[in-house]
Amino acid sequence: MAASEFAADRLLLFGATGDLSRRKLLPSLCALDADGLLPEKLKIIGTARSDLDDAGFRDMARAALEEFLPAERRGSMAGFLNRLSYQPLDASTLDGFDALAAKIADAGPSDGLAIFLSTAPSLFGPTIAGLEKAGLTGENVRMCLEKPLGTDLASSAEINDAVAAAFPEERIFRIDHYLGKETVQNLLALRFANILFEPIWNSNVIEHVQITVAETVGLEGRVGFYNDAGALRDMVQNHMLQLLALVAMEPPTSFDATAVRDEKVKVLRALREATAGETVTGQYRAGASSGAAVPGYDEELGEASDTETFVAIKAHVDNWRWKGVPFYLRTGKRLPERVTEILVQFRSVPHSIFEGTGGGALHPNRLLIEIQPDENITLSLMAKVPGLDEDGVRLREVPLAITMPDAFAEAQRRIAYERLLLDLIKGDQTLFVRRDEVEAQWNWIDGIRAGWEANDIKPQTYMAGSWGPSGAVALTERDGVSWHE
Ligand code: BG6
Repeated sequence: MAASEFAADRLLLFGATGDLSRRKLLPSLCALDADGLLPEKLKIIGTARSDLDDAGFRDMARAALEEFLPAERRGSMAGFLNRLSYQPLDASTLDGFDALAAKIADAGPSDGLAIFLSTAPSLFGPTIAGLEKAGLTGENVRMCLEKPLGTDLASSAEINDAVAAAFPEERIFRIDHYLGKETVQNLLALRFANILFEPIWNSNVIEHVQITVAETVGLEGRVGFYNDAGALRDMVQNHMLQLLALVAMEPPTSFDATAVRDEKVKVLRALREATAGETVTGQYRAGASSGAAVPGYDEELGEASDTETFVAIKAHVDNWRWKGVPFYLRTGKRLPERVTEILVQFRSVPHSIFEGTGGGALHPNRLLIEIQPDENITLSLMAKVPGLDEDGVRLREVPLAITMPDAFAEAQRRIAYERLLLDLIKGDQTLFVRRDEVEAQWNWIDGIRAGWEANDIKPQTYMAGSWGPSGAVALTERDGVSWHE
């Protein structure tokens, strides 16, 4: 059996008392347990600085589950809580790692360990050193890393090097939680399980693509982290570029980790360096969100800042398939609605036989893939308006629409981390990001940031509750394109 093929029966969570653990990881694990999907022998060992014992950690976990997991998905909770134990640890020193190893050994003989690191990146290096010293980096151990993995190519390479010194790439699992979303995976099914799309999925038929990830939330108390990151590094570097790669990649030969990631990385490497004129940044000012007045970013932060909370980019994939097809990306906080969607705009028909019949203009076809919160796929088609056509053939755009929750009413809707945690336990890397992908992503992002610096570009302001600064509209309008809203 290859080193990466074991099923882990121990899961070690660093940052176990933190926000991600309470909001997503523990609820996802509990929901999997309630559905009987966790390996029977799986024990979960939490670790963090807080001075808790097993009972204290279980209490914290119970409170988190009650807050963040709907009652109907919790099961009895008792069995799940029984899987949990806890070891306090200051990961910045080597001292506590032997006790951590002893705690893991307490749970009895094991076939394999999965480690989930959701801590400040500054702790990655010391944590790996501690794990090595305590003998917790052996062949039956795999390592899962949560973002942020650095702030640029150089710092991400440093983190990746530190991890690579202890784990080979086939045992490193980098999370991009967008890949755990069902509707994101469905992009692959749409493109490669249907014969209809692939022949027209290129610059001959597609005019442009828009990818929008809009949020209504503001800073959400993540002051330190967000102000050092900004929308480009927080959302575009990872989630949006992964979406772009899935839309633009060539068909992989199979649905396995190497084949899928080989194709994604080719797209990421084909991204043309964006010029300063092809990007727009913004920062929200006081306005309204979901009907309530909200303060501006600078007010929430308590000081003036040049961090962007909005970014729009006209991107180009320089390869044969996508020659001349812009990919317009935009993301922001405090936008009017929470929506993640991909719009594929097709070209006009080469010749309209209806011209001059009084029927009005033909609208080029569009495919709208809504990822969240709605999960719909809509193809806009032209159709004839019923009638005797005495004043000419009248045509109108009509939707051919699939509402995923209706099409799959019986299927359980899951948190993205449920899928990813299960894949981590099983050792399937297909939905995790490989080092070369991360580095290609950073390379492109670093180029944009260097352009901003060289041209002294500062974010334009926009009102909370609007679709970003006016420059974002101009970015597409000068190509004769409107954002889909
Ligand atoms: C995270 C970002 O990676 O993704 C957050 O750090 C953002 O700023 C979040 O809010 C969005 O995720 P989702 O699943 O709510 O779209």
